[in-house]
Amino acid sequence: MTGPEAGRGRRGGPVEVRRSIPRGAEARVAELYWEAFGRKLGPALDPPDTARAFIAHHLHHDRGIAALLDGEVVGVAGYQLGGRALTGGGARDVLATYGTLRGLPRLVLLSVLSRTPAARELVMDGIAVSPVCRGHGIGSLLLKEIVALAADHDCRRIRLDVIDVNPRARALYERHGFTAARTERTPYLRHLMGFSAVTTMYRPVAAADHEEAR
Ligand SMILES: CC(C)(COP(=O)(O)OP(=O)(O)OC[C@H]1O[C@@H](n2cnc3c(N)ncnc32)[C@H](O)[C@@H]1OP(=O)(O)O)[C@@H](O)C(=O)NCCC(=O)NCCS
Repeated sequence: MTGPEAGRGRRGGPVEVRRSIPRGAEARVAELYWEAFGRKLGPALDPPDTARAFIAHHLHHDRGIAALLDGEVVGVAGYQLGGRALTGGGARDVLATYGTLRGLPRLVLLSVLSRTPAARELVMDGIAVSPVCRGHGIGSLLLKEIVALAADHDCRRIRLDVIDVNPRARALYERHGFTAARTERTPYLRHLMGFSAVTTMYRPVAAADHEEAR
């Protein structure tokens, strides 16, 4: 689906969902990501200006679904498939940006947050909607597109992780067919990243999803 969608943003216009991040929207996507995940990613990528620039510079456009309202990106869902994620930048880039001494502990933190998809699994890394546009169905449109995309790529399931301090996001995922599989307690991350447990959720990609994606 690339055309105008049924959802409406706060400004009342139709929301367009695209299967890639538009060129020129890198800084905007980095801003949305940072607004949503800065608390979690801060210890690894702070200060915020450096973090946003790092995310924007290393973005993989083909691993993000974008929601646009009046031509502006108001929502994004990043995913991992075929060894690529929306947020790029390897160890060398982290060390080049932050320096070797400061970069090494950051790499450790980033490795704690990283996830590797299993075979025929799409991992959704992060979904973020502009604060002023939330609660209008844009997150749901992005999730539906993630499901359609997973079906198109013949994935058998979608995986995501949700932290314990985000029950509303978890409720949204449950409404979209995700179920919790396990919870990992991470009390050592509470002061550093603001959460103390991570729940892994899965959604099977069913035959009906394949048909809908066609
Ligand atoms: C989670 C998020 C992407 C949902 O996008 P959305 O466009 O508001 O989603 P929808 O309008 O389709 O659905 C709204 C539902 O999203 C959930 N939600 C989670 N956080 C929310 C927030 N801050 N504001 C509004 N809804 C939120 C709720 O379940 C809400 O339903 P409710 O009104 O019954 O509580 C969005 O709220 C967001 O960007 N939050 C911050 C980042 C985040 O938490 N990402 C998920 C990480 S696992």
